[in-house]
Amino acid sequence: MIDKTKVVYQIYPKSYKDTTGNGVGDLRGIIEKLPYLAELGIDMIWLNPFYPSPQRDNGYDVSDYTAVNPDFGTMADFEEMIAVGKEHGIDFMLDMVLNHCSTEHEWFQKALAGDSFYQDFFILRDEPTDWVSKFGGNAWAPFGDTGKYYLHLFDVTQADLNWRNPTVREELFKVVNFWKEKGVKGFRFDVINLIGKDEVLEDCPINDGKPAYTDRPINHDYLHMLNQASFGQDPSFMTVGEMSATTVENCILYTAPEREELSMAFNFHHLKVDYENGQKWTIKDFDFEELRSLFHTWGEGMSEGNGWNALFYNNHDQPRALNRFVDVKNFREEGATMLASSIHLSRGTPYIYMGEEIGMLDPDFESMADYVDVESLNAYQIMLDEGKTPEEAFKIITVKSRDNSRIPMQWDASENAGFTTGTPWLKAGKSYQQINVEAEKNGKIFPFYKELIRLRKELPIIAEGDYKAVYKDSNQVYAFERNWQGQKLLVLNNFYADEVTLDLPEVYQSGNVLISNYDDVKVGEKITLKAYQTVAVLVGD
Ligand code: GLC
Repeated sequence: MIDKTKVVYQIYPKSYKDTTGNGVGDLRGIIEKLPYLAELGIDMIWLNPFYPSPQRDNGYDVSDYTAVNPDFGTMADFEEMIAVGKEHGIDFMLDMVLNHCSTEHEWFQKALAGDSFYQDFFILRDEPTDWVSKFGGNAWAPFGDTGKYYLHLFDVTQADLNWRNPTVREELFKVVNFWKEKGVKGFRFDVINLIGKDEVLEDCPINDGKPAYTDRPINHDYLHMLNQASFGQDPSFMTVGEMSATTVENCILYTAPEREELSMAFNFHHLKVDYENGQKWTIKDFDFEELRSLFHTWGEGMSEGNGWNALFYNNHDQPRALNRFVDVKNFREEGATMLASSIHLSRGTPYIYMGEEIGMLDPDFESMADYVDVESLNAYQIMLDEGKTPEEAFKIITVKSRDNSRIPMQWDASENAGFTTGTPWLKAGKSYQQINVEAEKNGKIFPFYKELIRLRKELPIIAEGDYKAVYKDSNQVYAFERNWQGQKLLVLNNFYADEVTLDLPEVYQSGNVLISNYDDVKVGEKITLKAYQTVAVLVGD
């Protein structure tokens, strides 16, 4: 059983701290910052891929699964990082990209050279289906000059692996065990609900945003095998699956402990509430009621089904939540702290994406030349082809690009935000002179995160309590209740700048304010929430 008091912090190694001056963050940079993270109080660091890779998709195109990309350091640095982490009470969770590998991986190269043993590592067909790549365009590409096609659900250089082949599974389980033996204590599995493809692949009308290769029943079998062959032998391991377009029902199956698949699951429904007609490359204000109702459906569904959510707003694929959900010009600190408490006090394991703890924002880049991400570059071209003007397409990129969160971590007000002495691989954001660790450590946001992390460890109701939706019809307050052994915790989050007054149920009228982002909160028959205010009221001892 995992320890539910733990909090995970995500580091995008390329952008955290560069100690060599090559413009790319590195493992030694992470070692340098471990005391900072220990002060924040987190328990585990999820690292995005740092393996050898041609970097077409920033490391999610792995060309060697069991080595360190020299840009990030050496295996000795990695081992030191694990050891120093342990001294600070911090463990590591590695990103396992097992749905696909780079076309530069030796498996693909050998397959291309005609080796039929390795050809069976990939998904090759004489006739492609109509599937579309998640990064735009056809999901099938010609396999050399064989007349066949190989499947790539992502970039053309990321070839999908054939999990139906037992040798492939064995090889991938060996990779997981390789890192397990190095002392890591967690894994994040990239797009893991896409690994199980049907034997016969069919054309795919998209049903409710869920294509024909998502959450196939055989996925559960593969995850159980993976569990049994590796981390399942150690019950303290924390594993999380990235689940694309998934369902509550499937996530209960993926995460209920008796199933022996994974500890928890990321789903993304709540981060599509600002998509017009479900399309990412659009601009729309977020739909609060949809957000609230998704949180409630997932919170209650997973609680009732004994599943476990990974809770998050930010990661390396998302623009900053602050820019999406908050009037950052006027209420950055209030909004950042409210968002934090809306997930840290909820049921599940909270994830903090680097920079979130200081309220970092999207970078305000000025031209397409500042963007690096393959998905953004493809999307820009597709939008132009579809008839958008360069200005319209650029505006959408500034709001939606994954590079928004991949900019260098803002350490101080010096050049390049204190990230590198060289030229950063991706430009620093414009706000770094005001928003940086040095300035924010004694500000409002960092100490608030620290307190939320501390409370989860102190109060079992936060870690263990169940989840109940309350104020279900509110059009501006997202609220939930936690229950544990006679204790009750009510968490109210005002998602807007307008004040709002709520009637408080009797049981809470004599409760204690556990935490709020405003001072002097009074509870009584009514409670008034100010702009982006969060309040948690605890009853019982
Ligand atoms: C996941 C990763 C993303 C990557 C994709 C393909 O969604 O989070 O960064 O591009 O998988 O590996």
